[in-house]
Amino acid sequence: MDKNDGATDVRINEIEVNDDFFLRDGYTEDAIERYCAMYESGTQKPILLAKLADRKYLLIDGFHRLHAAKKLKWEKIHAWVEEIPEDERLGRAVAENNDATRGIFLKIPERNRAIDKLLQRGKTHEYIGNVIGLSRNRITTIINEDPTLKKSATDQIKLTSVNEWLSGKKQKEVAKLLDVTDGRISQILDGFKEDLKKQYLEGQPIVQIVGQAQTAKYQLTEEKCKELLDSEKVGWLGWNQVIEGDCLKEIQQIPDGTIDLIVTDPPYGIEYQSNSMKEKDALINGDDDQAPKLLEKALKQLDPKLKKDAFIYCFCSWKCYPDFEREVAKHFKIKTVLVWVKNETGLGDLSSYMERHEFVIFGVRGNKKLNVPAGRGRPSNVFIAEHTYKKVAGDGHPTAKPIDLCAELIRLGSSEGEVIVDTFCGSGPTLIAAKQEKRRWLGIEIEPKYATLAKEKVEG
Ligand SMILES: C[S@@+](CC[C@H](N)C(=O)[O-])C[C@H]1O[C@@H](n2cnc3c(N)ncnc32)[C@H](O)[C@@H]1O
Repeated sequence: MDKNDGATDVRINEIEVNDDFFLRDGYTEDAIERYCAMYESGTQKPILLAKLADRKYLLIDGFHRLHAAKKLKWEKIHAWVEEIPEDERLGRAVAENNDATRGIFLKIPERNRAIDKLLQRGKTHEYIGNVIGLSRNRITTIINEDPTLKKSATDQIKLTSVNEWLSGKKQKEVAKLLDVTDGRISQILDGFKEDLKKQYLEGQPIVQIVGQAQTAKYQLTEEKCKELLDSEKVGWLGWNQVIEGDCLKEIQQIPDGTIDLIVTDPPYGIEYQSNSMKEKDALINGDDDQAPKLLEKALKQLDPKLKKDAFIYCFCSWKCYPDFEREVAKHFKIKTVLVWVKNETGLGDLSSYMERHEFVIFGVRGNKKLNVPAGRGRPSNVFIAEHTYKKVAGDGHPTAKPIDLCAELIRLGSSEGEVIVDTFCGSGPTLIAAKQEKRRWLGIEIEPKYATLAKEKVEG
């Protein structure tokens, strides 16, 4: 039978070329020259094209031949045009490039790369064997002997099993479909759930976990992710978010007995605006003579939400210290007062000393211990950290706290996965630090401008 049967002339500029179907190590000048000579002598060996929509074609086999035709500046080329489903195109390219009946073979590295591409498209060993012309068992051996192929095969089985299971198939059905043991599927699914749990406990918001899973081609939805974490009893799924609202209302939704550490910076009640400033910042919500009352109410509501063993770090100035100390002491045993020495001077009475420090009340309940790294001595209760006020004024929070300082407090006051809450989170440095240190976190802020800022910084 004439091999040219059924071939037709196709305009070269209507042919699309996708290098994914090019299975050779590279172009061989010799082969192109040979095809040029063949063409000039009047012989054409048609290329294989898959029909696309809109009078377009996709090159499946014949990369060197197309090159030769282009080199001869031909406008048309002889081609077999077939309807090849998208899912079958690579397999067909492999079969054409490795046709034992015609004595054409891919070199071993080329063949292995083709196997890898097919594995990444979810093809079974049997399918690969069919298109390459080898038995299924031989393909399995080739895969097991090559570390790159073995990894692709493992990744692919994981991806397919998880996706089939997420789409509603039972574990047993997935095992049957992929021709692997039940135990293997249950190991894969456990590993997948464990990964989600770990990321969540490290403080990653659910949208981010889902986004990453989707990038890795898992068909995981936000709803399904929550359902899985819920069934794994990972904890309240409202962690890792900034809530815009009044903490006196929002604290109520936190489940009881869940908070490991409060790090918070309530309004000090000192109307921090200074007459020395040319442009005054807006007054902070609650920064009036009711500030101690606000802290009292917040701590009262937070009390049942705390774990039996918990810590608090509560920022304050020397002025509000007596009131804040009294309120914190109603719920925690006060262990010490940390001094934060700022590198920049703060505001205050211009006829008195320059303000260069703030306090952090440190309280404990139960038996919680500081998380001091091995080899480090007892941490000092004086911290030196930049005062970020000048840097953030204008587009940030007027009394923003340094992230480094918050991170140091969080590292010493909690462990990975623990829950950190800041009910007066402002622009969110405590939350950024908690996330950075792989804790779970929750921030509440009443002022929309600052809540949005915190969301952008910590959730973004
Ligand atoms: C001292 S600032 C915190 C600043 C924050 N540490 C930062 O670095 O951006 C106190 C914050 O508590 C907020 N606030 C006041 N009353 C509140 C309430 N009832 N619920 C939640 N937030 C409140 C204020 O809007 C303010 O942003």
